Amino acid sequence: MTTNKELETNIFNNSKDDLEIYIRQCKLEDLESVIEINERELPEDYPYFFYKSILDNFPGCFLIAQDKNSNVVAYIMWRVEKAPSTNSLKYINQGHLVSIAVSKNYRRKGIGQALLANSMKAVKKYKIKQYVLEVRVSNYTAIRLYEKFNFKIDSIKKNYYRDGENAYYMTLDI
Ligand code: ACO
Ligand code: ZN
Repeated sequence: MTTNKELETNIFNNSKDDLEIYIRQCKLEDLESVIEINERELPEDYPYFFYKSILDNFPGCFLIAQDKNSNVVAYIMWRVEKAPSTNSLKYINQGHLVSIAVSKNYRRKGIGQALLANSMKAVKKYKIKQYVLEVRVSNYTAIRLYEKFNFKIDSIKKNYYRDGENAYYMTLDI
């Protein structure tokens, strides 16, 4: 796998919790930990081959954060899709945020923000015109994070989740 130094980041936090976090591209051997975090932190679970195909197709857009003992504590994954442009007949590339999660004990330390910032740079290289995502209307925390990056609510997708909850469809034009 090609390494992309530009996407690597160290987060140091000298406060009492002695945080030392390293962000890098996901590798095949990280997938088990990624799936574990997803199943713990989010109700939307995916089969192994789903993660694997995203990693195979968009490796630069799949990042993880690890602690100083090399434990994976967070991930973010995107895919790039073709979608009809809203103002012409052309198709455009969209970066679609598939999933992000930070383990509970590591939240509110800037990891989510760092994952989002670094991965957005990688996704942009696919010549996308827009970033898009869906988020539960009740997920205030995630909505705040996306708003911090200037995502705007475009519309509501009714009954989007299996339990019937609606999603906000949020977008950010480039
Ligand atoms: N309350 C309000 N705003 C918050 C909170 C909170 N508890 N936590 C984060 N934010 C917002 C703030 O704007 C914050 O900026 P600030 O610290 O300057 O105020 C910003 O997010 C960045 O905070 P981080 O510390 O970088 O975020 P964190 O590492 O905690 O990760 C995340 C945020 C990913 C949403 C985390 O809470 C999480 O894993 N939640 C469970 C999984 C989840 O809901 N994922 C999103 C699903 S939607 C999808 O994947 C497309
Ligand atoms: Zn989606």
